[in-house]
Amino acid sequence: MPISADNTVFLQLNHTIVLVGIMGSGKTSVGKRLASILGAKFHDSDHEIEEAAGMKVAEIFERFGEDYFRDGERRVIARLLDAPPCVLATGGGAFVSEENRRIIAKSGTSIWLKAELETLWDRVKDRSTRPLLQQPNPKQVLKNLMEKRHTAYQEATLIVSSDPGISHDIMVRRILETIREHDLAHPSAAPILTKKAVE
Ligand code: S3P
Repeated sequence: MPISADNTVFLQLNHTIVLVGIMGSGKTSVGKRLASILGAKFHDSDHEIEEAAGMKVAEIFERFGEDYFRDGERRVIARLLDAPPCVLATGGGAFVSEENRRIIAKSGTSIWLKAELETLWDRVKDRSTRPLLQQPNPKQVLKNLMEKRHTAYQEATLIVSSDPGISHDIMVRRILETIREHDLAHPSAAPILTKKAVE
């Protein structure tokens, strides 16, 4: 993988990379790092919904309900997939929607950041920003959501494991290697990453 002294990768992103996976899988933090290394824009669907609504995700759930949030999520994802290639972190429930999976498959490359329950729980347990976990026995809720969503996440084009304690940099490296292997294995398809011409 060609990486310069300042850690910039001389690679050009040709498809939007859509990070999917359950809460705590690292979509936002890893996505930001990946985008910065690729010199691409980073977007987070939750953040975009919050900006458009002028309130936090928890407040949207509380005042308008989950269906309203899902509708906003679908519109934000469709809009961002229409924009130039970027790195897009989606909320944990986005890839459960068949329609979202279809539009993501059409114009982007989905990557499931897969992690074990204990790893996820460690990352989310001290935060109160996730409305679906604000109920009795949130760890069990998280486990149930993982089981329920597993089949949907498995439909992602690529899967990258997020092990306990793994750094964002190593996750980014794993993602880039997985994309490269995928591009090499599919020579007749349009590559996700190509070498950037350096002046
Ligand atoms: C949700 C995950 C959250 C956010 C909302 C619903 C879910 O995003 O979209 O609270 O359904 O799993 P993160 O996965 O970024 O926490």
